[in-house]
Amino acid sequence: MTILLDMKGWDPHPWIAAIKRADPERQVVTAVAQENASAIRYAWVWRPRTGILSNLPNLELIVNLGAGVDALLADATIPTHVPIVRALDPNITMRMTEWIVLQVLYHHRHIPAYLEQQRQRIWRALPQPAASAVTVGILGCGALGTSAGVALRHVGFEVIGWSRTAKEETRFKVFAGGDCLPSFLGQTDILVCLLPLTPETRGVLSYGLFRQLKRGGALAGPVLVNAGRGAQQIDADILRALDDGTLWAASLDVFDPEPLALTSQLWAHPRAFVTPHIAADSEPEAMSGYVIKQIRRHEQGLPLDMTVDRGRGY
Ligand SMILES: NC(=O)c1ccc[n+]([C@@H]2O[C@H](COP(=O)([O-])OP(=O)(O)OC[C@H]3O[C@@H](n4cnc5c(N)ncnc54)[C@H](OP(=O)(O)O)[C@@H]3O)[C@@H](O)[C@H]2O)c1
Repeated sequence: MTILLDMKGWDPHPWIAAIKRADPERQVVTAVAQENASAIRYAWVWRPRTGILSNLPNLELIVNLGAGVDALLADATIPTHVPIVRALDPNITMRMTEWIVLQVLYHHRHIPAYLEQQRQRIWRALPQPAASAVTVGILGCGALGTSAGVALRHVGFEVIGWSRTAKEETRFKVFAGGDCLPSFLGQTDILVCLLPLTPETRGVLSYGLFRQLKRGGALAGPVLVNAGRGAQQIDADILRALDDGTLWAASLDVFDPEPLALTSQLWAHPRAFVTPHIAADSEPEAMSGYVIKQIRRHEQGLPLDMTVDRGRGY
């Protein structure tokens, strides 16, 4: 029941130590060799090396060590008969919720303007709308979008969401499908993107979409917050929208490609806030404990959480 660990750009040592703490009997390898290939049952991966999973005769489960599976599904060498699960533990969900709430409050409570006033030693109160006067619209109401939306409601914001399919039970109003998108956008002051990257969501954050956001709301203008994937946003459209007032401000955690090019105008734009894809990092200790529990469920024949639907792309 050996685990293969393959993670691009991540140090495997804290992960190996965390797996050993969660399950001391489990063997962990970081390379495939003739002697260990047939022992490997589980692959824990983040952007794995191309081809590494293609010749493992007894592979039972691929665990993607993050919420987004776009990079994994783009690899044509991944065996199609092996199920994929996303490792989405409460720790990563909470980290994303923190980052989204932080960005929404950052713009709602005028933090950029007050930082500038402090630099200039200006003592001046700016008009402050109540949170209840501001509607946050969340594109993507899955695990992360729902958690962020619930937290934002606790802070007092109006929250609405948008998903692909209609929901029977939701914690806030969720619009479903492309036909409802204009209505959702027309009510949204702060747009939060937590969509997975699929062919349908690539480039969705465009100038045309920003123009449909609510005008004349409680804030100086619409705000964009993107923590989904960089390929969902068109950087040139964001800059154009910030410059002509279609957007008042933007908080961006994801870019395509990453790191964000040194020449990008987003770095220095006065109303763009840029972070280096840190909204919700996978933390070895918390995630290993969660994934080991999932593997034990699998070994007992119980259903797994967060199974990826390859046809849907998330
Ligand atoms: N920046 C970071 O550090 C970071 C960290 C973790 C994750 N992420 C990103 O966050 C994304 C979301 O994660 P999650 O766990 O919340 O995903 P999830 O549970 O799979 O939820 C995805 C949501 O998006 C909706 N959706 C998908 N395609 C759509 C479409 N074409 N039109 C409308 N709605 C669509 C889904 O609709 P249905 O409910 O109808 O299926 C669902 O509500 C990940 O894929 C990843 O890209 C970023």
